[in-house]
Amino acid sequence: MQHWLQLADRDPAALRKLVTLAADIKAGRTVPDAIAGKILTMVFFNPSLRTRTSFEAAMARFGGSAICLSVGGDTWQLEHRGGAVMNGAASEHVREAAAVLSRYGDALAVRSFAKMNDAREDARDPVLHGFAEHATVPLINMESAVEHPCQGLADWLTMHERLGDTAGRRFVLSWAPHIKPLPRAVPHSAVLAAAAAGMHVTIAHPSGYQLDPDVITQAEAWTAAAGTTLTVTDQQVAATRAADVVYAKSWGAVGLYGDAPAQAESFRTQADWQITPGHLSATAHLLHCLPVRRNVVISDAALDQHHTTIVDQAENRLWTQAAILQHLFTSQER
Ligand code: CP
Repeated sequence: MQHWLQLADRDPAALRKLVTLAADIKAGRTVPDAIAGKILTMVFFNPSLRTRTSFEAAMARFGGSAICLSVGGDTWQLEHRGGAVMNGAASEHVREAAAVLSRYGDALAVRSFAKMNDAREDARDPVLHGFAEHATVPLINMESAVEHPCQGLADWLTMHERLGDTAGRRFVLSWAPHIKPLPRAVPHSAVLAAAAAGMHVTIAHPSGYQLDPDVITQAEAWTAAAGTTLTVTDQQVAATRAADVVYAKSWGAVGLYGDAPAQAESFRTQADWQITPGHLSATAHLLHCLPVRRNVVISDAALDQHHTTIVDQAENRLWTQAAILQHLFTSQER
């Protein structure tokens, strides 16, 4: 039985096959027939617009069905720590919840964001791995503390659609300001997807906003194997103006976890990192995972100019997740 937890768990060739499968499904060249009759149970610790809807749509469109649970709303509060004395808000442990939900459906999916109190604790991804340990059906990561691998695969498909062959093309992930610190899962998976797609990868961020070193090490290994480069810079405009693809994303500074005033001040002093048309060459494509705060992260003018690409990127969640589901259900049958 396979799980779908992180892009970093796979190799670039395996990821490329999934992108190709997603493109074939989208074009109607193949049908993901293993989805028919299957039940996907989704467990959300955090809100969602795209992830929930695109998974429900993928299951329904190809003859399966989906159950969606909001933790603490539809379900009991869940504990994930081993050995916890459960005398607080949580009435049920992931140990039982994952085992029971596995009996009702054919796959489980979980969204559990980084807590952003302790970077080392987040790097262990304890909720996702708690579910993975106790699930007896394939588990899908719908964004955890470390990665958003479904988003990363959709990002890759979108770049393939815009660029054709992605090999050797220039991908720039640009940090952007926000009103609150966001997790690093999306930028981690975006960087890994671009590296696996054979692109030159540049990560532009102000001092203090570094990504997880393990993710960087993995992305460096993939770029080195592809003969491309991975560069980290604080020279945002020079980087983005030279890019074929600019991926705008905000995330919080690890050193400022728990210090809301300092984080707010950091965003304020770096407000000019907001992506505007001036950051982009005439031929560049702009990506964002959505949701996006207009005129904070990206200006109206830049967003409106690249609206179609960003909506295509969101649509591609549907097709790449159909490919992931097909792959997991097919692997299970073997
Ligand atoms: N990009 C993404 O995962 O969107 P949602 O948070 O709305 O699911």
